[in-house]
Amino acid sequence: MALKRIIRNWKVPKGQELTDFDKKILSYQNRGFLVPKNKLIKTPEQIEGIRAAGVINTGVLDLVEREIHIGMSTEEIDKLVYEYTMDHHAIPAPLNYEGYPKSVCTSINDVVCHGIPRADEFLEEGDIINVDCTTILNGYYADASRMFIMGKTTPQREKLVRVAKECLQVGMEACKPWSFVGDLGYAIQKHAHKNGCSVVRDLCGHGVGNEFHEEPDVEHVGKKGTGMLLVPGMVFTIEPMINGGSWEVCLDEEDPLEWVILTLDGSDSAQWEHTFLMTETGLEILTY
Ligand code: MF3
Ligand code: CO
Ligand code: CO
Repeated sequence: MALKRIIRNWKVPKGQELTDFDKKILSYQNRGFLVPKNKLIKTPEQIEGIRAAGVINTGVLDLVEREIHIGMSTEEIDKLVYEYTMDHHAIPAPLNYEGYPKSVCTSINDVVCHGIPRADEFLEEGDIINVDCTTILNGYYADASRMFIMGKTTPQREKLVRVAKECLQVGMEACKPWSFVGDLGYAIQKHAHKNGCSVVRDLCGHGVGNEFHEEPDVEHVGKKGTGMLLVPGMVFTIEPMINGGSWEVCLDEEDPLEWVILTLDGSDSAQWEHTFLMTETGLEILTY
C-alpha cells in the first residue's frame, strides 16, 4: 500500500498553542488538500502596505485611461506610467524585472500579454489594448490591468473585451473564503466557453504583495475543490486571458527578449486584472 504524500505547507512551532485558524487549516492539510505556507497569510501591516501600493497603481491606470488615444505610441504610455509612478515615490515593478526593459506591458489585439512599449508602435482605430501596471511602494506590490478600445471597433472585439471583464467578475464571485483556486478557474472557464471564447492555460494569476509573483499559481481553468485553499489574509491576482479563437499561445519570434506572448492562431486576446485580499466574507479589491 502506498502512502499518499501530503504537502505540509502549514507549520506550527513545536509547543505553541494551536489557534482556531491553525486548527482549521490543519484539518484541510491532514485531509490532503493543498494549503498555503504561513508566509502567504499577510499581516495587517503588510496588507496596509499593499493597499497603499494599490492606490498608486490605480492612479496610474486612471491616468492612462484619461490620456490614451488613437495615434499615441505605446512608448508614450510607458512614459506616463514611469513618470507618474516616480512622482509618487514608487517604482514600476516591470522595469528591469527579469530583463524586462520597460515600466508597463502594452498588449494590442493578438498580443496576449507582456507586450513591450515601442516608439514606433501607434494605436489605431479599432485596436484593443491591455495596459498592465504593477507598482512597488515601500517594498509592497500591487498589480492590475485594464482593456481600452480605440475608437470604434468590431462587434467581435467589443464582445471579447466584455467577456474577459465578466470572466474576472465571475472568478471573483466564485472566491469565497475557504474555497479553492480550482473553484474560480472552473467558473471562469465555464463563462468563457458559454460565450464561445477560450481561456489561456500557459499563464496564470499569482500571489502578490511582498514580491511580484508569489504562490499560489492562480489558474483560470480548473476543477472545483482542487488547487490551493484560499483563506483570509491571502493576497493574489486574478487575471484571465481570454482568446477569441483557440487557447494556445506562442512566443513572438520577433521579440529577441522572449517576453511577448501571442495567440497561436492570430485571434484576438483580452485580459483584465485586479489584486485581491481574501477576507472573512469574500474578496476585497485592492486595486480600485
Ligand atoms: N503584470 C504582469 C502580471 O500580471 C507581469 C508582467 S512581468 C513584466 O503578472 F516583466 F513583463 F512586467
Ligand atoms: Co499579475
Ligand atoms: Co499584471
